[in-house]
Amino acid sequence: MDLMNLAPGNSPQARSGVTFFRAKDELRAALAEARDAGRSIGLVPTMGSLHGGHLSLLRAARAECDVVVMSLFVNPAQFGPGEDLDRYPRDEDRDARLAAEAGVTFVYAPPVEEVYPEGFSTRVEVEGLTEVFCGDPARRGPGHFRGVATVVAKLFNTVGPDIAYFGQKDAQQVAAIRRMARDLDFPVRIEALPTVREPDGLAMSSRNACLGPEDRKRAVALSRALRAAERGARADSLGAGIEAARHELEAAGIEPEYLEARDAEDLAPVAELNGRPVLVAVAARVGGARLIDNVLIRP
Ligand code: PAF
Repeated sequence: MDLMNLAPGNSPQARSGVTFFRAKDELRAALAEARDAGRSIGLVPTMGSLHGGHLSLLRAARAECDVVVMSLFVNPAQFGPGEDLDRYPRDEDRDARLAAEAGVTFVYAPPVEEVYPEGFSTRVEVEGLTEVFCGDPARRGPGHFRGVATVVAKLFNTVGPDIAYFGQKDAQQVAAIRRMARDLDFPVRIEALPTVREPDGLAMSSRNACLGPEDRKRAVALSRALRAAERGARADSLGAGIEAARHELEAAGIEPEYLEARDAEDLAPVAELNGRPVLVAVAARVGGARLIDNVLIRP
């Protein structure tokens, strides 16, 4: 396939110096050539609206893999009713430019019907660890992670990456995808990279764009709370850490949806630091945005 000589409007298509694919068979064909030539493949799944967190994943993939595939797909299956799928920010030209600057080889940006054709009826469900934190039925519910696991399984099948990159900010998503890859025998290494933060500590997220100036200032309390949780847990007890975090949130007028410590791998409840990595995670609505953040307390 001559990727350098592509007519605009077709798939694949050269945009901002990166090759865009709309059709999975064409992407597969291009990747088969690369694989046959012994080149390693890295995948960075995204829903677009790229920020510094995505760029750190793309750069890591660029540094480690010969071919970097970025998927760009706002996945309807992971949005619940009333979760504003239609208002999710989309700017393909900007994302194409940033992807090219970060050294992406191929962008896979399929239309919805390419991923979910008429009659699509299969779902991937990772039980247990998707039913807590954000997956608690009283919050987003396990349906969100069913949508994530289903689309990521499909991306793994389409791309066949050697390494797939995710942000630790979505710690529960990382735990679910690791479990899915292990349970379903996907031959892929899952890399979780540290959360990228604004200079004041706020975790980078597409949702930060929904914060007005006052809420933007208040939102910093989430990362402050998590730092207090780690300090308290190390100096005293996990309970004391959670209490200190709760005070930080209260002082900023933020009522958490959850603020909890769990085992970082299986998300089972933990009462104390126990020699295994412990995840303290928080979710809260701040003004118009539902924000999540977490800290991983390593032994
Ligand atoms: O983290 C995200 O942006 C999405 O959940 C993902 C992994 C791209 C699946 O749609």
